[in-house]
Amino acid sequence: PIDRKVDSVLALMTLEEKVGQMNQYNGFWDVTGPVPKNGAAALKYDHLKKGWVGSMLNVKGVKDVKALQKIAVEETRLGIPLIFGFDVIHGYKTISPIPLAEAASWDLEAIEKSAQIAAAEAAASGLNWTFAPMVDVSRDARWGRVMEGAGEDPYLNSRIAVARVKGFQGDLGELSVAACVKHFAGYSFAEAGKDYNTVEVSNNTLHNIILPPFKAAADAGALTFMNSFNELDGIPATGNIHLQRQILKGDWGFKGFVVSDWGSIGEMIAHGYSKDLKEAAMQAANAGSDMDMESHGYIEHLAALVREGKVPQDNIDDAVRRILHVKFILGLFDDPYKYCNEVREQQTIGKQEFQDGVLDVAKKSIVLLKNEKNLLPLKKTGQKIAVIGALANDKTSPLGSWRIAADDGTAVSVLEGLKQYSGNTITYAKGADVAVGTVAFGSETKINTTDKSGFAEAVNAAKGADVVIMVLGEHGLQTGEGRSRSDLNLPGVQQELLQTIYKVNPNIVLVLNNGRPLTIPWAAQNIPSIVEAWQLGTQSGNAIAQVLYGDYNPSGKLPMSFPRSVGQVPLYYNHKSTGRPGNGQPTESVFWSHYIDVESSPLYPFGHGLSYSKFEYSNLKLSNTTFAKDGKITVSVDVKNSSKVDGKEVVQLYLHDLFASVTRPVKELKGFELTEIKAGQTKTITFAINQKTIEFYTANNKWEAEAGDFKVMVGGSSATSLEAPFSYTN
Ligand code: IFM
Repeated sequence: PIDRKVDSVLALMTLEEKVGQMNQYNGFWDVTGPVPKNGAAALKYDHLKKGWVGSMLNVKGVKDVKALQKIAVEETRLGIPLIFGFDVIHGYKTISPIPLAEAASWDLEAIEKSAQIAAAEAAASGLNWTFAPMVDVSRDARWGRVMEGAGEDPYLNSRIAVARVKGFQGDLGELSVAACVKHFAGYSFAEAGKDYNTVEVSNNTLHNIILPPFKAAADAGALTFMNSFNELDGIPATGNIHLQRQILKGDWGFKGFVVSDWGSIGEMIAHGYSKDLKEAAMQAANAGSDMDMESHGYIEHLAALVREGKVPQDNIDDAVRRILHVKFILGLFDDPYKYCNEVREQQTIGKQEFQDGVLDVAKKSIVLLKNEKNLLPLKKTGQKIAVIGALANDKTSPLGSWRIAADDGTAVSVLEGLKQYSGNTITYAKGADVAVGTVAFGSETKINTTDKSGFAEAVNAAKGADVVIMVLGEHGLQTGEGRSRSDLNLPGVQQELLQTIYKVNPNIVLVLNNGRPLTIPWAAQNIPSIVEAWQLGTQSGNAIAQVLYGDYNPSGKLPMSFPRSVGQVPLYYNHKSTGRPGNGQPTESVFWSHYIDVESSPLYPFGHGLSYSKFEYSNLKLSNTTFAKDGKITVSVDVKNSSKVDGKEVVQLYLHDLFASVTRPVKELKGFELTEIKAGQTKTITFAINQKTIEFYTANNKWEAEAGDFKVMVGGSSATSLEAPFSYTN
């Protein structure tokens, strides 16, 4: 029935109105102020009235959304409603942890809930479409946008992509928004981790590593996709027929629409693919980019291109059908003001229930990297605690990158969180800044502050303390889009500060705030306790304090490997074996695949994360050691909590396909279970392996299972110790 409705609208539309639906404008002007008289805003306003705009981005708040929707509905010939998009990446006003942090929770329910909260606030504010989730598998920590995804593993990314799509889209009611799966495809493989850079990946990597999370999100019903800035095999993704028409809309049967990334149609000129904006518009439209985000290529040239026979009318109709389809599904044709209710807006945004929800996922996102000398959990009374580091007293940085609607200074700082526990005395000293000048959206992102004038005060604070909590890392806006780094050390003089404090008091708990893996080999060697606390959002300080004091027993696991040195990057656990893997040869020996100056292994592997409980794995059993098509193997393992505290563990299952028509990774995550295990309790965890589990994109260019020998590995991180063989016959 929706298809019929779409067709009946389409039948009424002129070519210009159709092209208008494919046009998205940015709305940074006072949309409820006086009618703009000149410049870009006046042009956009005029186009809105003519029905030449299908969507707006960056207009938010019921008042503004309503004002523009009113123009579309009441002043244009056909009254087709606009769809309003916004980057609701990890929260709208109430901010949850950055997506990389949430991925560290491995808690799909909590992640779905967090997306639901974000959707509810955004929808209450008039929006109906978020440009999330980003599902780019990220192997290179230099790339600033690793903060926006779920890390290095395609399976974990896929599971989380599904949770986020479900969370955002929910029942498609008035508190849900359409998801936009991005960036299709290959964006995170930018050479040298430099944002927007050229991408060179094999077909094998494209299909086995990059595409699975996109496919999972499409299968979960995601309504829209965004293409990406990069080229793939010499063709920009925005103009890529193979990606958009053949794979996404063809092989996968995706029914929604694809929006370009910001200006990416026009950027095909700089790529050296299009002669001018007109040619770029032709290439993008023919490749299946349905909506133009702010390059103006479609609105300026598409109608002429159709008349000249360079863009088939069918391609336009297909794009418009897709866009109208999503508008119908969202209910915008039934009620264009569905999302515009001022009372609901007031009652929904910032609700206590949402604060509780983001606090919950924030606690779950924290990863305990190291804990020696029993420094953690902290004792609740009688302690003198020195808190050091600019990030400890920062109420903006924890909001992280991509939180455009949230106000600066609205996060709970670590210092505020710690002060809730009144049994100890706290002395605070900044020590050193993390950044030069103001770190604001789109402006100052320099990281090499050299000012050490605060060191002396910090040393004094540390001297008399029982425990020193040092909160170091990256400011929230030192990661994210356009913020690639060429080294991964603690920025500025923070490493020097850490070592200076260590000399006077080695009882240090290092709390890291960062949006990507950092290289911290000295700290890993010398600092007794290290807590990875990312950028955790509005409730950051409360979450960190509850973990440090043991009111929440940490259960997070790393979604990305932590390198020892930036020279190891890209570093990921699911790498291939070379012909000369070395297998334990000393660093000094030559002629095997390794470095002569650093170990090849990560400092902290994918999946690593400790708890205040202690978990022991034993008794790995397979129901059978061989299976055939339609058969399966049940894998079981005993996990014992041998400590005196209840805790949660992420039990992880990996496979190695020993030989295949195309080489397979040495280890691949194929299942996990987050489970609570009481003190002293042993739980048996089971997983099923079937044909689906072992399928991959083979030398035949299709997903299939190949007969052969495998190894199954189970443990609490990718550095597993238990393993068993099995085989598959087809
Ligand atoms: O959604 C983003 C995208 O990820 C990067 N470019 C701009 C878009 C809209 O803000």
